[in-house]
Amino acid sequence: MSNDNQEEIALVEPRFVDSLDDCFFYHTMTLPQFGEVHAHWDLRGRFNEYIGGVNLEGKSVIDVGTATGFLSFEAEKTGAARVLSFDMAHASQQTFLPFIEKFATRDPEKHNLEVERWKNAYWLCHRLLGSKAEVFYGDIFNLPQELGPFDVAIIGSVLEHLNDQITALASISRLTRETIVVVTPLLESEDRIAHFEGSSDRPENDFTWWTYSAGIYREVFRMLGFEIKSISPGEYFYDYGQRFEKRYTIVANRVSEMP
Ligand SMILES: C[S@@+](CC[C@H](N)C(=O)[O-])C[C@H]1O[C@@H](n2cnc3c(N)ncnc32)[C@H](O)[C@@H]1O
Repeated sequence: MSNDNQEEIALVEPRFVDSLDDCFFYHTMTLPQFGEVHAHWDLRGRFNEYIGGVNLEGKSVIDVGTATGFLSFEAEKTGAARVLSFDMAHASQQTFLPFIEKFATRDPEKHNLEVERWKNAYWLCHRLLGSKAEVFYGDIFNLPQELGPFDVAIIGSVLEHLNDQITALASISRLTRETIVVVTPLLESEDRIAHFEGSSDRPENDFTWWTYSAGIYREVFRMLGFEIKSISPGEYFYDYGQRFEKRYTIVANRVSEMP
């Protein structure tokens, strides 16, 4: 699917990466040349369930928080016409819980070297899998309008890591003309409540902020001109921990005209 505005925005030029040593994988992948590469999450064979069964045939798709890119590459395989993989431009954009003991030691430039290794893993897979996905690195809270529009936005396991999920959802919704898929932990309640995941005695968890209820997502999606069509639980394999963890997939469809 062509995008007339495409040349106005700075898509990322592909990087040539050929060594696993330069990479940090988030998704367990099966790659030509390297075979199985194990990582945090193994979503192989579970893509359709993970995205709530949304049909991507012929659709334009933005994969928000692509990490190693598993969802982008699967979207291409299942017939998406255009796939754009999005991730943060720089590690300083990641929102961490404010532990005092980490103020002195947190160095965004050092952290960015790790983020670059995440990006390298994406580019290695992109090349070996023959992907045609486009890539944009930027600010999730302020995505440029010219990037889209997209038929479908996939936001897998990203929102719970943001200090302000709602502003990010609003930014993504402005680019999405049909369907938003959110994968996240969830409180099964229609009350508009959230669970704060931070704990002052657990500085090791400084990257997960909030678990929202179904009721919050329902209201926020309505504000944004979407209606939730389905919420489905699934158990996904956390490869590093060798255990399954529960996540929910929310599928919301646009019911108002795009602004
Ligand atoms: C837990 S991974 C999820 C990967 C994939 N979407 C999935 O569902 O398997 C979270 C992703 O969100 C990205 N992310 C986290 N905070 C972000 C931010 N503030 N801006 C943009 N991307 C962010 C990370 O870089 C990473 O790619």
